[in-house]
Amino acid sequence: MILDANEAGAIARAARALQAGDLVGMPTETVYGLAADATREAAVAKIFAAKGRPSAHPLIVHVADASGVQAFAADVPAFAQSLIQAFWPGPLTLILSRRKGVAAAASGQQDSIGLRCPSHPVAQALLKECRVLGVPGLAAPSANRFGRVSPTTAAHVAAEFDPDLLILDGGACAVGIESTIIDCTRGAPVLLRPGAITVAQVQNACGQAVLTQQALDSPAPRASGTLQSHYAPNARVRLMDAPTLQSELDIAKSEVQLGASKLAIYARSDLPLGTNKLIFRLMPSHAEAAARELFAVLRELDNLGVEQIWVETPPDTPAWAGVSDRLGRAAA
Ligand code: TXA
Ligand code: MG
Repeated sequence: MILDANEAGAIARAARALQAGDLVGMPTETVYGLAADATREAAVAKIFAAKGRPSAHPLIVHVADASGVQAFAADVPAFAQSLIQAFWPGPLTLILSRRKGVAAAASGQQDSIGLRCPSHPVAQALLKECRVLGVPGLAAPSANRFGRVSPTTAAHVAAEFDPDLLILDGGACAVGIESTIIDCTRGAPVLLRPGAITVAQVQNACGQAVLTQQALDSPAPRASGTLQSHYAPNARVRLMDAPTLQSELDIAKSEVQLGASKLAIYARSDLPLGTNKLIFRLMPSHAEAAARELFAVLRELDNLGVEQIWVETPPDTPAWAGVSDRLGRAAA
């Protein structure tokens, strides 16, 4: 059930549901989350069940502000402190060592915990109200079934789950792709998932070089958003540069089987299609705008019943890292 977050009493009602151990669909600036009391094992178990997500995959815990970190983290290195100061509230998740005995289920029983302070005003209001009710943090993965495209509107969430699920409608997400994740447990910042906050911004804020997982020998932590195949629409996604896309299009065009609405093109270049038997969506030329609409476009094309989505490879620049990452996994 979708509830307008601006309606009187909506936030309080959602907070009480969370306090009672129920799930709530929550808007954040990145994507919508499926929230539960992070400190309550039975509530967290409902998230894994609803998503169909393996219970060993850790969830991100959302806190109202930086003071919420102490409840969940045992140790915050100086560089992580700088990142909190620079980017919270905002689309940055930090992996920190977990405080003993707290949120074990939410962390997938790992020794670490992912923490994020979202900037969306509805998420902020909900987290503050929850804190008043004795709930110090909300575990919230993206509100989609495991492996599927993340939701950026309340309607997307409603399409994924039971009609009883309480969903706070806070409008379309401004960022559109999930938070940047930095592992802070290995002595230096390690990028686990690219997002709107770039590696350069992280480096500038903390004065330390950001390492990539590949550069490290130690085994990678479990992170479902980092599985090779993820964020997948029903349609098959193919990534191609503009010339390849054009020549594949020329071949497909001459084939009789190119039926109406079976193929969609999502490209920054306004390619000469030479046919009206396919769907064309122009990708924004700015990374931020492209990120904002990416998941909604993939869902829209799925709903139109297309079988393939051919996407023009984004530019190989830091600003596009988040979009490139999601598209790469959608195509894997
Ligand atoms: O923007 C976001 O981060 C959204 C919104 C709702 O906040 N949340 C989100 O959650 O994307 P989820 O569960 O779909 O992705 C969380 C990612 C997963 O890849 C998970 O494995 C990783 O964070 N993660 C969480 N805790 C971790 C930990 N302790 N160690 C390593 N990775 C962790
Ligand atoms: Mg997810």
